Amino acid sequence: MNIIDAMKSRFTCRAFTSEPIDNETILSIIEAALRAPSWGNTQPWEIFVANGKSTDRLRKAYSERFSNDVPVNPDIVRPLPKDWPPTLKERYEKLRKDRSDFLGLDRKDQKDMRELMVRNFRFFDAPSVIFLCMDRSLTPWSLFDLGAISQSIMLIACEYGLGTAVAVQLASYPDLVRQELGIPENLSVCIGIAIGKINTTSPQNTFRTPRRAVNEVVRIKG
Ligand SMILES: Cc1cc2nc3c(=O)[nH]c(=O)nc-3n(C[C@H](O)[C@H](O)[C@H](O)COP(=O)(O)O)c2cc1C
Repeated sequence: MNIIDAMKSRFTCRAFTSEPIDNETILSIIEAALRAPSWGNTQPWEIFVANGKSTDRLRKAYSERFSNDVPVNPDIVRPLPKDWPPTLKERYEKLRKDRSDFLGLDRKDQKDMRELMVRNFRFFDAPSVIFLCMDRSLTPWSLFDLGAISQSIMLIACEYGLGTAVAVQLASYPDLVRQELGIPENLSVCIGIAIGKINTTSPQNTFRTPRRAVNEVVRIKG
């Protein structure tokens, strides 16, 4: 698959099949993605992967916490802007409305919204989750590097016929991830990427998000 096709076909997969993915495939994808650029070639990423039974154990632990309303406690705090600039707020609200309308969910119904949320804590039923970590002392520049490797992993996964979901919610309970995968305390568990075969029968996976037009985003001169 060429890169443009991968860019155009990638989407956040929110329903995976239970088909296992072998460690070799995951390692090949990550190996290629390690070519991603980083500040001064510092390569700040430390990557821990839950696969098979390890993912199942974590999924169970996450789901239990979620159903017991245990507050999330991510390593990377999520300060949201006090006021989103209006156009961004509009897009954010539109995404939430479009997705729930598409799935026939009522946004005012707590049960419906919980239903949506719980999928995150089940890792969308993926057989594997790639956790991207970095030293706690690092700055947003290294998060930028993690963004670069995230997208690289997701595009390469397309080549392998696999779907992905990068999701901050997957890093909601870092203590559980740390315990399962032996992640040292000096590393922040920044984000997770669920990976696996796309469940093509789930309506979750037929929803697509729009993008702004290039001539609205780019001002080009010369
Ligand atoms: C940093 C980051 C965090 C995200 N966290 C979540 C999440 O916790 N749960 C989720 O369902 N999607 C999450 N997403 C996916 C976005 O909602 C999604 O990328 C966006 O709506 C565009 O849709 P697309 O990926 O299908 O093109 C996240 C994406 C990014 C880049």
